[in-house]
Amino acid sequence: MDGANPADGPTLIRVRQSGPLAGTVRVSGAKNSALKLMAASLLAEGRFTLHDVPRIADVRWMGELLEQMGVGVSQKGDVLTLDVPETVTPEAPYELVERMRASIVVLGPLLGRFGTARVSVPGGDDFGHRPIDMHLRGLEELGATFTTSHGYIQGRADHLEGAAVLLPYPSVGATENLLMAAVLARGTTVIDNAAREPEIADLAAFLNAMGARVDGAGSSTITIKGVDGLTAVEHTVVPDRIEAATYMAAVGMAGGEVEVAGARPEHMEMLLSKLVEMGLHISPTANGVSVKASGKPHSVDLATLPYPGVATDYQPLLVTLLAVADGVGIVTENVFGGRFRYIDELVRMGADIRAEGHHAVIRGVAALSGAPVRAPDIRAGAALVIAGLVADGETLIGDAHHVERGYQDIVGNLASLGADVSYSVSG
Ligand code: EPU
Repeated sequence: MDGANPADGPTLIRVRQSGPLAGTVRVSGAKNSALKLMAASLLAEGRFTLHDVPRIADVRWMGELLEQMGVGVSQKGDVLTLDVPETVTPEAPYELVERMRASIVVLGPLLGRFGTARVSVPGGDDFGHRPIDMHLRGLEELGATFTTSHGYIQGRADHLEGAAVLLPYPSVGATENLLMAAVLARGTTVIDNAAREPEIADLAAFLNAMGARVDGAGSSTITIKGVDGLTAVEHTVVPDRIEAATYMAAVGMAGGEVEVAGARPEHMEMLLSKLVEMGLHISPTANGVSVKASGKPHSVDLATLPYPGVATDYQPLLVTLLAVADGVGIVTENVFGGRFRYIDELVRMGADIRAEGHHAVIRGVAALSGAPVRAPDIRAGAALVIAGLVADGETLIGDAHHVERGYQDIVGNLASLGADVSYSVSG
């Protein structure tokens, strides 16, 4: 794969107080769909062409994983080509899974097509404990068996058999693994309490284009009628709602008026209603969404939930807006236990936030103050970038490679809107 990604070089993002923002920014295809579509390509031999694939580290890593399995992978601009052979090496090694937990989504397609998979057990991460029990239990209900030794899960299935699977929680990854395993299973699978994210609907559309028979994706009940074989296809990745939210939050912080082209308002209704409650003006345009803001955001309370609730990925952006809002907001994080760890970094910038367990109480302050901070993960890193837009002086965000895992060019895009933001090589 070509490596036109700034993550190769800079490790710092430098932000100076900026605003108001103006212009148009275009969002990429969604990381969290592209990675799963790449995994789903394992289900059929032939050449796949994916459009609007972001040039980000996670996509390169998934590409490396597929290459190790024997898939030909090439990205030119935002077009990704995958040449999937008749057989692959059905293994996801520790080095790659450890770097990117999302690698676990190769389990379902490998079991579905080849009846065997050896995948490193993903560890915890910055969000804390991240089990995969629902993935494994669901696949067992389709007839797979698993043994674990030396840090690897070995999965086997002579053939998968359709079954009724009730997920205890609408896990995105478990729904995806089950969906990809079930498309080639014998008979009908019904996934109940399935995740409803737009990226799941995108995966189902991709699978159906390949010849699968998936019904109900995007709702809580997905029905999959197994087919004998699938074919390679061309597909355009659904736009990234989290990237869109990032630019909207940037306008909420710095003020101004920006069109976020490619944003799909129907994929972010709950977020948009929260942003409107916070005082942002949002209206659909022919190409996406226009967002306008001036003055301080209003404080609100909110809780993260599976889709269609306010996504956990928006949470650091919303906490950052609340950090400079005109009152007190309470944020409850219901999806990931450890997703408030970045708050100490905002506090270093002068935010008044008290986090306790799943709750954070955010008292808006008059101003933030630029400081050196560290990006603990993708979305928190993006939140620190937008915090820097209103902070007095200069904010230097270290470990910026985390941000580059999920954003193709957050620096270039914000700069094109007038923000004073640039890469800076440490040392
Ligand atoms: N969970 C279990 N057991 C399981 C699976 C999940 O207990 O078998 C728990 C998790 O520990 C977590 C909750 O269920 O507390 C939700 O996890 P889910 O499986 O829904 O999330 P995921 O598939 O691991 C994806 C995105 C995340 C996003 C979440 C929630 C990808 C690659 N990742 O993770 O995105 O936050 O869904 O929407 O699609 C990001 O893009 O930065 C990111 C972290």
